[in-house]
This record gives sequence, C-alpha cells and structure tokens, in this order.
Amino acid sequence: MTKKYIIGNLKMYGSISFYDTFFKKIREFSMHKSLDNIEIALCIPYPYLYLAQQILGNSGIYWGSQNVAKDNEGPFTGEVSAKMLKEFDSQFAIIGHSERNTAYCESDVNIAEKFLRIKEHNMRPIFCVGETLIEREAGMEKKVVQSQLETLVNHGKHIFNNSIIAYEPIWAIGSDMSASPEQAKSMCAFIKEFVEGEADKVNQLGKENKPIKVIYGGSVNEKNTLQLLSLDKVDGALIGRCSLSPDKFLQICEIAHQL
Ligand code: PGA
Repeated sequence: MTKKYIIGNLKMYGSISFYDTFFKKIREFSMHKSLDNIEIALCIPYPYLYLAQQILGNSGIYWGSQNVAKDNEGPFTGEVSAKMLKEFDSQFAIIGHSERNTAYCESDVNIAEKFLRIKEHNMRPIFCVGETLIEREAGMEKKVVQSQLETLVNHGKHIFNNSIIAYEPIWAIGSDMSASPEQAKSMCAFIKEFVEGEADKVNQLGKENKPIKVIYGGSVNEKNTLQLLSLDKVDGALIGRCSLSPDKFLQICEIAHQL
C-alpha cells in the first residue's frame, strides 16, 4: 500500500496556545485512526518544536521545520542547524520554498547544501520546486522544474533516496487557484520520471531504493483534496493556509485516510 503524505506548512503563524491545542487534537486523531495508509507531519516554526516533541512523541504523527542552516555549526547568527533540529526529534525539513527564495534570495547551491545536511542527520528533506505563472504561460514549466532538480543531481550518490519533492507552482501558492488535476499529475509524473530515470543514470537512488515521494502544494483545501490525492502520481499534499485551521487540516487527513 502506498501511503499518502499530508504535510502542514504552518509558515510564521501560531502561538504556544495555538500549537498546544493543535498538537493535542492531532494526537487524539492518531489515537482513533489507523495511520497505515497516511503519513502526517507538521512543519512548524522553530520555537514550537519542543512542544511538538512533548505532545506528539510516540503518536505516529511527525513534525519538522521550514528551513535549516547549510552549515553544521559556527558563527552564523540567527541560523539553526540540522543537528539542533534532530535534538527535537524533527523528521522533516522544508527547503527551497519559493517564499524563502524570494525574500532571502536563496541560491540553488545553498539549497543543495541544506538538502545534504538534512539527510546527513537522518531527516527527510521536503524540497520545493515549481514555476512562476510567466514561465508556465511560456510553456517552460518542465524546463524550470528540471533545472531545479538538476541542482541536486551532482551533489552526491543516492541523494534523492527517501526524500520528498513538493511540486508547488508559485502561482498557486496563497492564491485561490490550485493547479488542475491534469497539471498536478503531469508535473508529478515528470518529476518522478526525471528522478527515477535521469538521476538513476548517475546512481542517485541507490540500491536500497526507498523511492522519492512527490507531493503537490498550492491552494490545497478540504474541497479539492480528494481529487488531487486520487491521482496515482501524486503522493500527498503540502498544505499552507488550510493547516492554520486544525479542523480543516484534520478533515484533509480524514479524506486521505479514507482513500
Ligand atoms: P497554500 O500554501 O496552501 O496556502 O497555497 C502552500 C505552501 O506555501 O506550501
């Protein structure tokens, strides 16, 4: 059975009381449902990782961050290392999100280094790729996504093994316009083909072959989840706004659970 991944990207929202309530609700959910066919994770702001560890520990629900430093330690004011994240039992870290790329001018090389740090500490990177509206209208979306993936290909053997790629078209994030099922399916299939085919030529996946998961993000909500998650090439969803409502997020988890 292939699991569907439901991952919340909480961005810079929330408070101690918000997360306390959210974690308890989702823990409750995990006690009453089998999680055999879904994997649920919340990528939250750093200050709440300790609370996640305390409340969600041993619940079968995972948590993680939305960024990580590219270095392991040193005089890097404001940065948080993968080793530190691991101390809070983080299992996932988002990298390459377009909001960070735009606001903090993250280079492809930085993102590749972050990807490696996450893997070095046995966590799973959620690497975001996606095109702008102008690029899609110019018919360049696959070229753009391929070049984003290519930045990783030469960064070591088995690099994609056990990682998650999130296809997040930039025009669909925070808008009211999710990608159509056809667009999501076609790009997720393209990403899988690229990674499992092209990258395998240089032995990126490795023998143990824990394949990559390709999830979709950008205006996923409780109404379009079923359609998007029913697509065989789409392994799950990265959810922004809808994860700010624990009830909506759990509704999405329930839909995925029933698939
Ligand atoms: P959205 O955000 O669901 O609010 O569109 C998705 C994301 O930024 O990961």
